[in-house]
Amino acid sequence: MNATTPEKTGARIVVPVALEGRGYDIHIGRHQLCEAAALIAAFAPGAKAALVTDESVAALHGAAFETCLQQEGISVTRITIPPGEASKSYAQFVALCDALLAAKIERNDLVIAFGGGVVGDLTGFAAAVLRRGVRFVQVPTTLLAQVDSSVGGKTGINSPHGKNLIGAFHQPALVIADTALLDTLSEREFKAGYAEVVKYGLIDDPDFFDWCEANWSRVIAGGPERDHAVAVSCRAKAAFVARDEREEGDRALLNLGHTFAHALERLTSYDSARLVHGEAVAIGLALAFRFSQRLGLCSGQDAIRVSRHLDHVGLPSRLRQVPGGAGSAEEIVNAMAQDKKVKRGVLTFILARGIGKSFIAPGVAADEVRAFIEAELASKD
Ligand code: GLY
Repeated sequence: MNATTPEKTGARIVVPVALEGRGYDIHIGRHQLCEAAALIAAFAPGAKAALVTDESVAALHGAAFETCLQQEGISVTRITIPPGEASKSYAQFVALCDALLAAKIERNDLVIAFGGGVVGDLTGFAAAVLRRGVRFVQVPTTLLAQVDSSVGGKTGINSPHGKNLIGAFHQPALVIADTALLDTLSEREFKAGYAEVVKYGLIDDPDFFDWCEANWSRVIAGGPERDHAVAVSCRAKAAFVARDEREEGDRALLNLGHTFAHALERLTSYDSARLVHGEAVAIGLALAFRFSQRLGLCSGQDAIRVSRHLDHVGLPSRLRQVPGGAGSAEEIVNAMAQDKKVKRGVLTFILARGIGKSFIAPGVAADEVRAFIEAELASKD
């Protein structure tokens, strides 16, 4: 299947993640909850399961999924956390571990993360350390989680020192992405996840970026194009993870746009009313291409194409679109320095020589970044 061939309607797509001894499949399709339960039952016959979810997902889909699991003979304990980034905390981590122990989850049992990135990251981390590691299944319910955070085994929580600073690599045993669950997302949340879809085209798949330009509205509408976009994204992510599980090499390309994005999230105090992660990534992607253009690496046409696509979709692409303001160039560079290691005034960035031609640039001078951001803040384009 290439980037431009949509998947068949209703077909379940299976994407393997090829990791020696820790490989697993990602199942993608619409209305997969009862199939998910059957897959889980087949995978772990007789196991008990803890179903970890948040209050919003529980209200929409909790009962339906629990019924499917029970019909497969799986005994389920539901554990519900508050929705939102604040749940990736020490306090929720401790409460979740205790709840899993109270549910008597043993090493042969299963923990199911049923929610977006927050539920997946927190639950995966608890599963990584509970009884020195129990198996966990990701059933992601947001586009962002289906195309990025549920795949690849990065788990963790935030510290007052920054995002995702406490964590572990712990691969799921199975990922089930039911794309019909995305029908209940707000348009804003869906589009924010779409920024991570476009990212795969920009990293190394220019045909997929062309496809996104032509098909984005059908991805949002929820036809076979949506499943196709999730499948292409998961295949791309699976390939990076299989090559470089612990981000010692080119898995870092998945951070395209994220150095800018993390700084903007920090400067907006992780306030989702102002900016959610995917919106920050959208601005970060556009900035990465305009910065590459400024450094003489990438054509202005490609940089404009990236911003124009994000504009068409209704995603932000400029610093001035950060509600309440993004801060000064100095504040943005300082926020980046806290996110990334700055060694003697240089930062590591993911830059691009064109659409689909990203690369890791380890020696970018902080002064160059500051001058670029000053120009962006002054720009009226
Ligand atoms: N979200 C980037 C990664 O999983 O490596």
